[in-house]
Amino acid sequence: MTEVPVICIDGPSGAGKGTIAHMLAEKLGWHLLDSGSLYRVTAFACQHDGVGLEDENKVAEVARHLDVRFEQAPSGEVLVYYRDVDASRAIRTEEGGRGASTVGAMPSVREALLQRQRDFAEPPGLVADGRDMGTVVFPDAPLKFFLTASAEERAQRRYKQLIDKGESVSLPRLLRDIEERDERDSSRSVSPLLPADDAIVIDSTATPIDAVFAKVMADVTTRFGT
Ligand code: C5P
Repeated sequence: MTEVPVICIDGPSGAGKGTIAHMLAEKLGWHLLDSGSLYRVTAFACQHDGVGLEDENKVAEVARHLDVRFEQAPSGEVLVYYRDVDASRAIRTEEGGRGASTVGAMPSVREALLQRQRDFAEPPGLVADGRDMGTVVFPDAPLKFFLTASAEERAQRRYKQLIDKGESVSLPRLLRDIEERDERDSSRSVSPLLPADDAIVIDSTATPIDAVFAKVMADVTTRFGT
C-alpha cells in the first residue's frame, strides 16, 4: 500500500505499546503515530463542541473535520491541540480513555480517521501505535508487533503512573475499567482488538520494558538490517 516502511505496534492499553513505540521511533529517527490520541481528541472535541456521544452521525462529522495539531514541547512531551485548546492533559485521563473507546466503537468514526492515520506514513518511516494498525490501517506493513500483558499487571502499571502523578485512584476500580475496556475493544464489530496473522506477539507481563525493547530491536534489525 505504501512504500514508506511502517512498523505496527498494537495491543491493549497498558501493555507498554506507547513506551515501546516512542523508544523505537526515537532510535530509528522515524515518525510516530499515536492513533489512540486521535480517538481521544475526537471524544474531547465532541465534549468541547457540545456533541453527544450517542449520535454516531454527528460524532463522525466531528472526526471528519477534526482540527488537531501535535507539537513537541522542549521537554520532549507531545502536546495535543484541538483547534487552539491544549487538550493534552484532558485526553489522558481515565474519562478521556472511556470517551475514546466509545467513539472508537463507531464504524463511521473509524472510517473518518482512516486516511488521516495513513497520512502519517512519511519518509524515512513510521512507527504506528494502536489497536488495528496491523489489521486495518497498515495491513501491508513489513513488521507488526502485538504487545500484551495480563489485565492485573496493566492495572498495576497504570496505578503506579497515576500515583506518581499525584492522582488518587483505586486499584480495583482501575482493573475493572481495564477489563471493561478490553471487552469493549475486543468484541466490537469493526476493527476488534486482535493480532494480525503476521504479527509477532510479545507478552510483557513478566518482562521489563528494556527487555521487551531489546526483543523488538532484534526483530527490527533482522527485518530492516538497521
Ligand atoms: O491507545 P489509547 O489508550 O490512547 O486508546 C484509547 C482508546 O481508543 C482505546 O481503548 C480504543 O478504544 C481506542 N482506539 C482504537 N483504535 C486505535 C487506537 C485507540 O479504537 N487504533
